[in-house]
Amino acid sequence: MKFFIDTANLAQIKEANDLGILDGVTTNPSLMAKEGIKGQEAVMQHYKDICELVDGDISAEVISTDFAGIIEEGKKLSAIHKNIVVKVPMIKDGIKAIKWFTDNGIRTNCTLVFSAGQAILAAKAGATYVSPFIGRIDDSGWDGMDLIHQLSQIFGVQGYRTEILAASIRNPNHIIKCAEAGADVCTCPLDSILGLLKHPLTDIGLAKFLEDAKKFA
Ligand code: G3P
Repeated sequence: MKFFIDTANLAQIKEANDLGILDGVTTNPSLMAKEGIKGQEAVMQHYKDICELVDGDISAEVISTDFAGIIEEGKKLSAIHKNIVVKVPMIKDGIKAIKWFTDNGIRTNCTLVFSAGQAILAAKAGATYVSPFIGRIDDSGWDGMDLIHQLSQIFGVQGYRTEILAASIRNPNHIIKCAEAGADVCTCPLDSILGLLKHPLTDIGLAKFLEDAKKFA
């Protein structure tokens, strides 16, 4: 399973990348706004900065919702760098645009996916990635991980090449469960990635080793 970081924060992207386990980055308009980025030029520059930091796929989301607007925006975003993947919402014009991008060699990430039906449509349109939102499904009283299992099953049986990119990750256990369920990619906040490091027995064991090491130092 590939690890992406789900943020537009350059310091956090650098910290995750320095660990040596990062395969890419996903952003969305909310994450960009959180960084205080304003204006088209600043947005484009920010994507360039991310591309320079990480050698992997970088999802950049369109904010248009009509076919022509999505295409125009997507072309500009994909021209920033070869690693840019155009993130397109799961709407009717979005599916149409994903098919257009596929036919024209532009890679896509279909976002805001909450059901198997939506994911099948994205795969049929040729999306490079499909992003089911695990945490938000959990928040609404359903089990987000059920969808990852279901997509893993369907995509395997059908031989879809679209990669399952588990998004809206809220904790380290989500990451473990995604790996178990067969997600191709998990995009996570930095805290969830770092949470995988933690175990109290590791801390206790290390403290004891270091204490004992003093006896022969
Ligand atoms: O980037 C999309 C997704 O990961 C958003 O997560 O935490 O806002 O539901 P969240």
